[in-house]
Amino acid sequence: MIEPSIRIVAMPKDANPDGDVFGGWILSMMDIAGAIPARKIAKTRVVTVAMDNVQFHMPIFIGDCLECYSHIEKIGTTSITVRVEAFVERRESEEKIKVTEGRLVYVAIDKDRRKVPIPK
Ligand SMILES: CC(C)(COP(=O)(O)OP(=O)(O)OC[C@H]1O[C@@H](n2cnc3c(N)ncnc32)[C@H](O)[C@@H]1OP(=O)(O)O)[C@@H](O)C(=O)NCCC(=O)NCCS
Repeated sequence: MIEPSIRIVAMPKDANPDGDVFGGWILSMMDIAGAIPARKIAKTRVVTVAMDNVQFHMPIFIGDCLECYSHIEKIGTTSITVRVEAFVERRESEEKIKVTEGRLVYVAIDKDRRKVPIPK
């Protein structure tokens, strides 16, 4: 069974003014989820350089349990492309519903913030 990179419950502080979960919170969770395997591969700090093709398929509600799954798509010279899929389990259900997906690109950097090669 594939384990999610992160699993977290959406709290009231994560809501938008209309009471559903704020899209920016979902993106930040996906960014963290993609960075975890990217950092492991890079063996150094990584920064996000791009977020592409993000699609919000379904809303997330307060109390939903969000799970983000990360799949490495490409390892380049200094970059790692990770596809992140986000699912929720609503409070009353164990069914997993795909809510959001996107592709994130991370670049490995050194302590002077210069890009560095990904180790083979
Ligand atoms: C990341 C950073 C060091 C890259 O510097 P750079 O010299 O401009 O890098 P390059 O344009 O040569 O790109 C580096 C790699 O990223 C990839 N890349 C850059 N922009 C990209 C984009 N928009 N989409 C996909 N890949 C991209 C390049 O293809 C290259 O990959 P490769 O080495 O595997 O072939 C610099 O852009 C930076 O510091 N950005 C800010 C990062 C940041 O603060 N993020 C937010 C908080 S984490």
